[in-house]
Amino acid sequence: MHIFNQGKYKSLHAQSTGELAQIREQVLSDKDFRPTYHLAPPTGLLNDPNGLIFDGEHYHVFYQWFPYDAIHGMKHWKHFITKDFHTFSEADSLIPDEMFESHGCYSGGAILWQDKIVAFYTGNTRRASDNQRVPHQNIAIFDKSGKLLEKRCIIDQAPEGYTEHVRDPKPYLTIDGKIRFVLGAQRQDLTGTALIYEMDNLESKPRLISELALPHFDNHNVFMWECPDLFQLADKDIFVWSPQGKLREIQQFQNNFHATYAVGSLSGNQFNAEHIEELDYGFDFYAPQTVQQANGILYGWVGLPDLTYPTDRYKWHSMLSLPRQLSLQNGKIYQKPVSEVYAQCHSSQKVLIENRQTIAHLDTAYLQFEWQNQPLNIRFFDNAQGHHLTLNYQDGLLSLDRSASEQTELMAQFGEIRYCRVERLEKVEIFFDRSVMEIFINDGEKVMTSRFFIANRENIIQVSQPLSLEIAQISAIEYK
Ligand code: FRU
Repeated sequence: MHIFNQGKYKSLHAQSTGELAQIREQVLSDKDFRPTYHLAPPTGLLNDPNGLIFDGEHYHVFYQWFPYDAIHGMKHWKHFITKDFHTFSEADSLIPDEMFESHGCYSGGAILWQDKIVAFYTGNTRRASDNQRVPHQNIAIFDKSGKLLEKRCIIDQAPEGYTEHVRDPKPYLTIDGKIRFVLGAQRQDLTGTALIYEMDNLESKPRLISELALPHFDNHNVFMWECPDLFQLADKDIFVWSPQGKLREIQQFQNNFHATYAVGSLSGNQFNAEHIEELDYGFDFYAPQTVQQANGILYGWVGLPDLTYPTDRYKWHSMLSLPRQLSLQNGKIYQKPVSEVYAQCHSSQKVLIENRQTIAHLDTAYLQFEWQNQPLNIRFFDNAQGHHLTLNYQDGLLSLDRSASEQTELMAQFGEIRYCRVERLEKVEIFFDRSVMEIFINDGEKVMTSRFFIANRENIIQVSQPLSLEIAQISAIEYK
C-alpha cells in the first residue's frame, strides 16, 4: 500500500487527525444550499456516478469523490448501498493506494461476476520522469456486502493510435458469457471515440476488438468521449456518452459539454442510430451512467467539468441527480424519477396560486401541474437582493432563467438561460432541493436539471395567470 500525498493528489490515507471533521464543519456552515434528498458529498467534490449495479437485493451507488476541497483533486470512489433509494449505508470506498492508480481512481462501471461485484475503473497515473499521464484500466472486486477484496490492473497503457485520454470503462456481459467493456478514448488525431474490449473471463487479458462506430453522430470538433455506456432498453440498443467539444447552440448543446444518447441497433461494432439527442436540457447535467442489472435506471452528475459553484466556499461541490427510470416512447428516451422517489412524497396538498404566494418548504418540495399548452410565466423564490428563477413557456419553447440569482463567473460565462423545445406543454413536475431543481416535462419527454443559488430565500411562487398545483414534500435521505 502506498500513501499518496502530493499537492491535490492526496489520498484519504494521508489525512491528518481531525482534518476531515474540520472540513465537514465548514460544509455544515452552509445553511442555504445543502440538498436533503439528493446524494451530496459529506465534504469536497463529487462528480460522476460510478459502478452502479443492482446485486439482486441491493443497489450499489458509487461516485467520484475528492474529499478535501471543492476541486478536482485525487479521485476516490465513495460507496453506498441502498434497497430503496432512501436509506443509504456506507461501504468500502476505492482509495488510491496502488501505483496503477497513483493519481486517482477515475470513472467506470461494474458487473456481477460469480457473485462478486467487479468494478472496472481507470487508474489515473503520471509518470515520475516527465509527469506524462498514463491511463491504466483496473478492476476492484467487492463482495455483495460492500467489502473490498482485491484490486488489480488489467491494462497498463493507452492502446496504439490513441492518446493518454483513454478512460471510463463500462463493462457488461455478452450472451455467451464473456465480458465486454466500452472505453472512452481520444484518437491520435485528437478526435473522440469509444473502444470495445473483450475478455473471456476475469482472468483473461482484455483484447481490443475495435472502435464503436457511430456514423450518424456529428463528431465535428469533438475531441473526447467520456463515460460511454452501452445497454439495452425494451427492444433497442442504447448508447449514452458524454462527448466533449461540440459547439454550443442556442436551443441545444447549450452547456460546455453534453450528456448524449443514441437509440438504435448495434450490428457488430457499428451502432446504427435512429435518434440522437441530449439527455437533459438544464444547466448542470453530465456523465450519466445506468445501473447494471436494473433495466434502465440512470443517475447523472448534477454538475459539469470545469465549473465552479458558490458552495465551493463551503468546501463542497455538486451532487448526483435523482435516480431516473428510462423508458422508450416513440423511439425517444423518456426519464422519470424511479417510483421509490415518488414513494417518499408526503404532505401532499392542492394549491391555487392567483398571483404571489408563500409556499412553506417550497425549496424541498415536489410540485406538479397540468397545462393546456398556454403561455406560462412562473417566478420562484425571492430574497433581499430580489433573487429568483423564472420558468417561461411560449411558442413551443420552455426556458429557465437563473440570471437573477447568485452565480460564479464560470457559471455566468456559459449563459444564464436554458431553452428546451416542447411542442405541447401538458404537464410539469419539479423537484426542488435547496440548490437543485429537476424539471420533468410531459411525464419525462424532456428534462432540465439545474443548480441555483438563492441565499436567505423566501419560498415564494409568483404567476402570470392562476395556476393550480399539487405540492408535496420529499423525505430527506437517511444515512445509516
Ligand atoms: C467525467 C470525467 C471522467 C473521468 C472522471 C475523473 O466527468 O472527466 O472522464 O474519469 O471525470 O473524475
